[in-house]
Amino acid sequence: MEKKYLYLETYGCQMNEYDSDRIINALDAETTDKPENADVIIVNTCAIREKADQKALSSLGRYKNLKSENPDLVVGISGCVAQLYGDKLLKRMPYLDFVLGPRAIPKLPQLIEDVREKRIRPVETSFDIEEVFEIQPYHEQGKSTAFVSVQQGCNKRCTYCIVPTVRGSEVNRPLEDIIRESVYLLSKGVKEITLIGQTVNSWKYDNYKFGDLLHFLAELEALERIRFTTSYPRDITKKMINAMSDVNKVCHHLHLPVQSGSNKVLKLMNRTYTREWYLDSVARLKDAIPDMALSSDIIVGFPGESEDDFDQTMTLMENVQFESSFSFKFSPRPGTIGEKLSKTNEMVDDIRAGERLSRLQEYQKEITLKKNQERVGKIEKVLVEGTSKHDPKWVMGRTDHNRIVNFPGKKSLIGSIVDVKIKEGLANSLRGELE
Ligand code: 5AD
Repeated sequence: MEKKYLYLETYGCQMNEYDSDRIINALDAETTDKPENADVIIVNTCAIREKADQKALSSLGRYKNLKSENPDLVVGISGCVAQLYGDKLLKRMPYLDFVLGPRAIPKLPQLIEDVREKRIRPVETSFDIEEVFEIQPYHEQGKSTAFVSVQQGCNKRCTYCIVPTVRGSEVNRPLEDIIRESVYLLSKGVKEITLIGQTVNSWKYDNYKFGDLLHFLAELEALERIRFTTSYPRDITKKMINAMSDVNKVCHHLHLPVQSGSNKVLKLMNRTYTREWYLDSVARLKDAIPDMALSSDIIVGFPGESEDDFDQTMTLMENVQFESSFSFKFSPRPGTIGEKLSKTNEMVDDIRAGERLSRLQEYQKEITLKKNQERVGKIEKVLVEGTSKHDPKWVMGRTDHNRIVNFPGKKSLIGSIVDVKIKEGLANSLRGELE
């Protein structure tokens, strides 16, 4: 069969990026960056907040005309919005050919065949597909970093979150599969692997826990760095902390979403820890690993959040000093308890939530800048990932602590870990010179 040209648009988290790479391999397709050249167009969507899901749907609208010009073109939606709205999407978008949930990627070739041969508009959103990890993602030649999924779905019940609805409950990937995929990536020249999962550190398989997984991976000789995201605070174990401090290859960076600094709000969110517990865990982590870099996700304007509750989030940030954080206005998601609470609890009006968000983001900017400036004069080990966006004579990479560094350097450095002396700390990155 002829190679198909695939135009793929991806929204959302690392898991979606990973799934998009699996979509490429599932179809054994050639990708194109021009939708008008494509035989198949797929928008891989994110449903985490209303804005994200609207963005994905409106982007699909752009392909309506292409479809009327070329009736053989297949246009599909995949990912979390596909799962959330299912066949309703077909009614809403008459030009849409198929709907594919995130757990059903192995079914994609069949779906496209059905569209072409049977002229039907299939919807595949079942969860009972055993082969959730069956298809390995496409890996771009020459890339020195890669994701490896260790888990699908989520067993936590945070009241704001749509993920368990759209990605199903937690399925942990067998250890052998994780190792096999990692070995493959290393054979392609990968130096750094980021393990991904919704609550990556809850991974378990047979008698193995997440800390064991870090040890097993570290034994792969060609692997130089191990990262992982996203960690669930309550699932941090001693074993995991020990692995982070004892295994050299494990980076000292932890993405540890706190979501709020108020006990009242944390309880409403069902985060299963208190402010004090979180701060205590951070203290224990920093005790074991003094150079630990922490980052976070924070939601403002959860239903019932008072000015005082918001202040508690700000004081928690002051206390922890996150390297960086992603922060969002609460967005009610269909069918979640958070959506119900937004009807019964006092809703924070949009303007106020917006003000809180900008105050928080301004404060984070200050902290990040200060932390970046503190690096000036230090020598950092940087894994070079590619050329800089702004200057082809410069390269960019990341430090162990996940800070981006740009410095003058040749392309031939890509893929190696080099010492860089930091000269400048900017808002979102560092600048330096090869040591
Ligand atoms: N509204 C706003 N932010 C949300 N997040 C998850 N669900 C919602 C929601 N309904 C945020 C959380 C999570 C990150 C990926 O997205 O902070 O950690």
